[in-house]
Amino acid sequence: MSDASPVLLIDDDKELLKATKQTLELAGFAVSAFSTPLDALAALEPGFAGVIVSDIRMPQMDGQQLFDRVKERDADLPVILVTGHGDIPMAVKAIQDGAYDFIAKPFATDRLVQSVRRAAEKRRLVLENRSLRIAAEQAQGDLPLIGQTPAMERLRHTLRQIADTDVDVLVTGETGSGKEVVAGLLHRWSRRAKGNFVALNCGALPETVIESELFGHEPGAFTGAQKKRVGRIEHASAGTLFLDEIESMPPAIQVQMLRVLEMREVTPLGTNEVRPVDLRVVAAAKVDLGDPQQRGDFREDLYYRLNVVTISIPPLRERRDDIPLLFGYFAERAASRFRRDVPTMSAAVRRHLLQHSWPGNVRELSHFAERFVLGLETAVTQAPSEPPASDTTLPLPARVERYEADLIRETLAQNAGDVRRTIEALGIPRKTFYDKLQRHGIVRSEFAGFEANG
Ligand SMILES: Nc1ncnc2c1ncn2[C@@H]1O[C@H](COP(=O)(O)OP(=O)(O)OP(=O)(O)O)[C@@H](O)[C@H]1O
Ligand SMILES: [Mg+2]
Repeated sequence: MSDASPVLLIDDDKELLKATKQTLELAGFAVSAFSTPLDALAALEPGFAGVIVSDIRMPQMDGQQLFDRVKERDADLPVILVTGHGDIPMAVKAIQDGAYDFIAKPFATDRLVQSVRRAAEKRRLVLENRSLRIAAEQAQGDLPLIGQTPAMERLRHTLRQIADTDVDVLVTGETGSGKEVVAGLLHRWSRRAKGNFVALNCGALPETVIESELFGHEPGAFTGAQKKRVGRIEHASAGTLFLDEIESMPPAIQVQMLRVLEMREVTPLGTNEVRPVDLRVVAAAKVDLGDPQQRGDFREDLYYRLNVVTISIPPLRERRDDIPLLFGYFAERAASRFRRDVPTMSAAVRRHLLQHSWPGNVRELSHFAERFVLGLETAVTQAPSEPPASDTTLPLPARVERYEADLIRETLAQNAGDVRRTIEALGIPRKTFYDKLQRHGIVRSEFAGFEANG
């Protein structure tokens, strides 16, 4: 209810501050009183769910300046100014600039309470719309960044601010914490969205091909180079180059990459031609490259070059309040992909959500949600080889069959429907695999595009 809304109250007149605080508290508001605007600003959290009521004439900063500062932070936050006789022109100007209301001193308490009430209601609606919009954005985007904890709000805010600048960004975070999601958003939220998002896993490319992959080559540049090839860096021109697992980039390539970052140009193998590239580089690392111990043979100069803006994504265990939201989202998504209903949550699942430390972070949580929807969560919380307990009424062969089918579905899900990897994981011949799919009525393509492991 709007009655429980918080109010930040500011007045340098201590007596009046106390009296107004009491008035508003009697009217049911949760009032934090400040005698200086700076203290109030320091206490103002992003997404503050209430109203600011401030005196206009104060020594440090007047009400107008305070209002300007609040507007920079959140243009929709209602500010009510309380003005003395001579300050009415200033108050009128503030209203024109978007302040919510002004109240001339001396005022009837009712007048103030009414105004605060209406402002609080407006604030509630604004925030509600905002979260609906975020939810909608998150639901339709292919790269949603879900999370409502302060850490995630801040992260989203930073991303929005830097996305459309050309500044290079280093993203750090544990495995599965969302580094690629962040890189994708930096691309999508920028003018570069029209260009290519080129992701390059620096650890996965064999050293022998990495140069021609990155820089491209002319026909005949080396044995086997029959056709001209445009390198990945050039391909990312006007778009975003995502250097994933940068910590595992071979040292020889690091030198060349440093040059690319500094000169913004590439020279394909087998040419002397220098081609300019218009790049925004986003690099991702699992380790703290600022720490010489962890950096290993990663070049310090390259680290400093990349470290213009660093975004660190906190591990999931440090933002546990996001777990239910993420779990709900992944469960819904899995349910629609598998055309199943989201099952009711058992105590065991709830306990797991609360207690697990999630070393695989969001990726691990999304896999858990998928298993939950497939009815396999007992396999997570207990030993993986234990058949589901609910099957005990069936004769043994039927239970074994069912368990086998579940295992195959689960493995397919974990491998995004990739047959080769699923067969490898299950350790059975290809033909047997297909026979079993048919027998259990499993449709492999339903698992394609399912969250892959990497
Ligand atoms: N905040 C989030 N909201 C929704 N989905 C997320 C979020 N963070 C991560 N994910 C999902 O979790 C999975 C792992 O994320 P991502 O690939 O970005 O992690 P990563 O940090 O690059 O991991 P790795 O270091 O292992 O490559 C992806 O499926 C991604 O969509
Ligand atoms: Mg990644």
